Amino acid sequence: MRRLAEGKIHERISAIPNAWYPAYIIRGDEKNMMIDSGVNLLGPRYLASIKETIGDPGLLHYLFLTHSHYDHLGSASYLSRHIPGLEVGAHERLAGLLQKPSVLEMMNRLSENHVELSGQNSAEEDLTIYPFEIRFHLKQGDEFHLGGLTCLVYETPGHTKDSLAYFFPEIKTLFPGESCGVIQGEKGDLIQVEFLSSYEDYIDSLKQMILLEPEMVCIGHGLVLTGNDARDFLRCSLEETFRYRETIEAYLNEAQGDVEKAMQNMTRQEYDIKGGIFQERNAYLTNLGAQVSHIAVMQGQKVKSRNKGS
Ligand SMILES: [Fe+2]
Repeated sequence: MRRLAEGKIHERISAIPNAWYPAYIIRGDEKNMMIDSGVNLLGPRYLASIKETIGDPGLLHYLFLTHSHYDHLGSASYLSRHIPGLEVGAHERLAGLLQKPSVLEMMNRLSENHVELSGQNSAEEDLTIYPFEIRFHLKQGDEFHLGGLTCLVYETPGHTKDSLAYFFPEIKTLFPGESCGVIQGEKGDLIQVEFLSSYEDYIDSLKQMILLEPEMVCIGHGLVLTGNDARDFLRCSLEETFRYRETIEAYLNEAQGDVEKAMQNMTRQEYDIKGGIFQERNAYLTNLGAQVSHIAVMQGQKVKSRNKGS
């Protein structure tokens, strides 16, 4: 079964406030955790939804981030400022990136593209992404006990080098961020492949997550899958990744190895003409550039370094 990542999706899990930028709240018997914090412009909406979901925001103990993209950590600095005692966990690399003014500047610039969300900030609060404290540098094998629920940390690089997935064995639920793609398409019949930092790592991470045999997958954008849909999604994502590489190689071959030309042709055909990809256009172009360059390098081409995606 599949459903929108919105509202109460399990007796212990709620998705707030917007299916496209969901933050997942997991309620343990003793502690509560939030996974991801979406875009900065939704900061006040997340805070209001936290209050609706668990009452006192001070009862939110952990905010764990799946990776270092602006649309997954966007509200973390706002929430850290408004929820004293909130402990943030992320990969060590993410903590390093937050120290780079150029990275923060890019995240804030990309956030501005979400004009559709600008009306969300009626109080005109400062929603700028500032550096925030990362309390836990998370790594493979870490465990956090919430009371009745355990959060197991898996390193799942490939989308980014700092990608993490969180698995709760008691409820067989996986939060992969974007480590296994995102469902797109007018009919939800397309898996957008999301490798950016490494194709090979992305494949290995998918294989690792398939072995977990989750019964529920709470995707980084859009949907929550249960039962066969959950297991099929991971397997289909792996198959789609192999196919996607072939597609990129075909565009590269058609453009005789010219990365920019292959990108242009692919954007026109796959994004403009076929449609059904709801990702913001600039983010799509940035990510596609990273993917096409990566495959070109795998083919043995020399490619000028490009932006690493969003
Ligand atoms: Fe991402």
